[in-house]
Amino acid sequence: MIKERMEEALNRQLNAELYSSYLYLSMSAYFDSINLKGFANWMNVQAQEELMHAMKFYNFILERGGKITLSAIEAPPREWDSPSSTFEIVYKHEQKVTALIHDLVDLSISEKDHATNNFLQWFVTEQVEEEASADGVVQRLKLAGNSSGGLFMLDRELGQRVFTPPAASKEK
Ligand code: FEO
Repeated sequence: MIKERMEEALNRQLNAELYSSYLYLSMSAYFDSINLKGFANWMNVQAQEELMHAMKFYNFILERGGKITLSAIEAPPREWDSPSSTFEIVYKHEQKVTALIHDLVDLSISEKDHATNNFLQWFVTEQVEEEASADGVVQRLKLAGNSSGGLFMLDRELGQRVFTPPAASKEK
């Protein structure tokens, strides 16, 4: 049985993952509206990944005999300035999520909750990848500068990203 403090914190993270999905879906719509379909695809896949993260928290809370609390999801912004500033925001957002995950790990240690600590390790590793992939695009956009050729090449590449559902991957 999970302790109340841990249960509350995991429910807050469930909400944060749902917000991340909202945020990236809003960015996907922005890229779609400026005809960068590859960027829109990348964001759409990212939004699906965040939903998968949320479901991992949801399933874990239930598995531990905890209660699910679904609270209101904050509305993300509707307008974005440019592809590069949007990806800067993604990178900063992922750094914030990493800090949230690390806080949860700290709490699991202070609560001596080894099962939750073990569960969170997947997210610790995942956040390294999340930050690296966002920063990767930030850097590529810097290289592309104002060249529309560079931007369209990157758009083509980001259009190839596909979502791998958890059942088809090794992760639950
Ligand atoms: Fe769920 Fe992008 O971290």
